[in-house]
Amino acid sequence: MNLELSGKTALVTGGSQGIGRAIAFGLGAEGAKVAICARDKTRLEETAREIKSKTNADVLVVPGDLSQLDEVNRVATTVRDRFGRLDILVNNAGAIRGGDFLKIPDEQWAGDWSLKILGYVRMARAVFPIMQAQGGGRIVNVVGAAARNPTPGYLPGGIANSGLINFSKGLADLGAPSNILVTAVSPAATATTRWESLIAQQAAVAGKTVEAQRAEAASHYPLKRIATPEDIADLVCFLVSARASFITGVCITVDGGATRGVYL
Ligand SMILES: NC(=O)c1ccc[n+]([C@@H]2O[C@H](COP(=O)([O-])OP(=O)(O)OC[C@H]3O[C@@H](n4cnc5c(N)ncnc54)[C@H](OP(=O)(O)O)[C@@H]3O)[C@@H](O)[C@H]2O)c1
Repeated sequence: MNLELSGKTALVTGGSQGIGRAIAFGLGAEGAKVAICARDKTRLEETAREIKSKTNADVLVVPGDLSQLDEVNRVATTVRDRFGRLDILVNNAGAIRGGDFLKIPDEQWAGDWSLKILGYVRMARAVFPIMQAQGGGRIVNVVGAAARNPTPGYLPGGIANSGLINFSKGLADLGAPSNILVTAVSPAATATTRWESLIAQQAAVAGKTVEAQRAEAASHYPLKRIATPEDIADLVCFLVSARASFITGVCITVDGGATRGVYL
């Protein structure tokens, strides 16, 4: 299948590791020019070197803290100026913490949402006029299966994810007249640094080994494993491609069949 991504320009937020890194790799391998943004410049540069050496892609490193409005705008402008246009935005940078509902302080709710809700909203708002002026674009919001599966220990993440699916649908309506297609991808547990630290926390609380906790988590999935970052990245690459030009306003959950209920 020819995804026709060669020469397209993309910005992947949180592109230095985990799911964002896999997406940047995937887009680079398909011939796109990729900008990756995260806070840690050294890790960004390492990832950029790896992508360049394995895919030959043009990779732009743009360090920034996307929980800050001025940083979001600077990153969007930097990518537009360097690449000349911006065909694809993948909103992915997020780091919402779980915890006991009765103990999570306001600062944690607001701080975590400043990245995973406001960071997505602000970046979409920054790139929208660029995409409108150039005649179209694609936006994929990496959300999370907690949107459909509330858990008491992860309410800040569940609320943010539900809201971002609503946002994706509304933004798709807004973008359609300008040929801007907006979708959401919701991963369930995915093998990244973030997931490993969550498993370690859960193991400590349950008094189990990390291996036992990891195996128990995987056992809840019908496919008896959690996702790899590439499982998520492959779908994102498809959704931003020419092969998905009639898909907008939807959220696709990548969970190995774990979510109960049917989607209509
Ligand atoms: N892994 C899972 O099981 C899972 C499940 C459902 C949904 N998700 C969602 O998928 C997305 C990626 O998760 P992941 O597991 O790949 O996470 P990860 O491995 O922790 O990577 C997060 C990325 O975001 C960057 N980042 C964090 N805070 C940032 C900030 N303030 N400004 C800019 N960049 C920032 C990180 O780099 P720096 O730290 O250097 O900034 C890193 O590149 C998140 O939105 C997450 O909620 C993940």
